[in-house]
Amino acid sequence: MEGIEIQGGRRLAGEVRISGAKNAALPIMAASLLIPGPTRIHNVPRLHDVLTMLELLRLLGVAGDHEERSLKLDARDLVSTEAPYDLVRKMRASVYVLGPLLARFGRARVSLPGGCAWGPRPVDLHIKGMRQLGAKVDLEHGYIVARADQLKGARIPFEKSSVGATGNVMMAATLARGLTRIENAACEPEIVALADFLIAAGARIRGHGTKTIEIEGVDALHPTTFTNIPDRIETGTYLAAGAITGGEIICTGTRPDLLEIVLARFREMGCRVECEGDRIRLVQEGRLRAADVETAVYPGFPTDLQAQFMALLCVAEGIGVIHETIYPDRFTHVPELARLGAEISVHGNVATVRGSRSLQGSPVMSTDIRASSALILGGLVANGTTTVSRIYHIDRGYEAIEEKLSALGADIRRIEVDAPLR
Ligand code: EPZ
Repeated sequence: MEGIEIQGGRRLAGEVRISGAKNAALPIMAASLLIPGPTRIHNVPRLHDVLTMLELLRLLGVAGDHEERSLKLDARDLVSTEAPYDLVRKMRASVYVLGPLLARFGRARVSLPGGCAWGPRPVDLHIKGMRQLGAKVDLEHGYIVARADQLKGARIPFEKSSVGATGNVMMAATLARGLTRIENAACEPEIVALADFLIAAGARIRGHGTKTIEIEGVDALHPTTFTNIPDRIETGTYLAAGAITGGEIICTGTRPDLLEIVLARFREMGCRVECEGDRIRLVQEGRLRAADVETAVYPGFPTDLQAQFMALLCVAEGIGVIHETIYPDRFTHVPELARLGAEISVHGNVATVRGSRSLQGSPVMSTDIRASSALILGGLVANGTTTVSRIYHIDRGYEAIEEKLSALGADIRRIEVDAPLR
């Protein structure tokens, strides 16, 4: 099994090019199912999750070519409308094919995604939305079985904000008859990018980026070419690498406007942060100061940067409190950070971190994409050697992470590790 080994203590400095946003690329790839012809998507990150989505689309009959960081997809002739369990269990985002298949072909059979490291990941809001658009949806032997001769526009008030459910319903509504009004919609930049892609393909959408999105159904979408937005979570992760090692990092090809609250938190912890165009420069001198973090829907602090900021707090001066409000228990990284010597206590969805002057390198195990990056951040600053196992998690969400960190001066390499006896 592959792992990553880090010799801690290096100060990181230099420029890092940010890849395309994973959480925009995946729904946009699924949206290609709505289009009876070629779709080109640029600035697609080279990630396992993108390959998994491409595998699923090809299984459905989409012609797909992956050229460097662009994708050419053609959903002209599909052969299936079923997303099987062995693919969906690998990547929850596979559920994004539900809306497009239902809207264009009137039927879809999509496996329920199951859970993940930090608990159940329900899709009840996706299912409720499809029913409100007029679909008949049943759960049969672990699959969502949906049918609809013609989807009809409807008012869809979400009782809680969901990125995935907003994207799925928005995609389905593009071909529904009449007006759909999504209320309490997700405002994440990845949903805005999905809407921009759909509009480029002929959809009629307004209000994306706000809590109320209106979609006027059309008869068909048409081929288009689209350039994906940069990844705000990858950006925050590399800035955190500069912050935790007392270094100087310049992220290029990114969008500072997509992570304003995160940049404010870096400044609160003592970092100097400057933005210019598509570049963000972070300089950290001396020890970080602790700060509190409460995750929230966009434009609040992103839950996908919670683990990385917990790593920063592990070596910051003072006590920082993290309140995770999006997921019931997204703290699987806590016991692994504790193996590095971190002092963290958890009560419910609140973690209190008492910063230490130093961490000690240790073998640790990653449990999900963002927990993996938090453990790597810890390893960058720990004394001695840190080995992170089950590193396939990080390959799902970070393109060439050890190459990018090595280029910034980290002593990091991929190794073979025995599967932990747990
Ligand atoms: C997206 O997941 C992201 N994934 C996640 O990033 C991210 O953590 C999450 O949004 C929140 O920002 C992708 O975009 C591929 P949600 P999603 O629906 O759509 C509950 C990463 O590391 N909920 O906004 O699944 C849900 O359990 C990943 O890149 C329901 O109850 O998230 C959670 O508590 C991890 N019923 C909350 O809503 C539903 O039908 C937010 O989930 C759907 C969600």
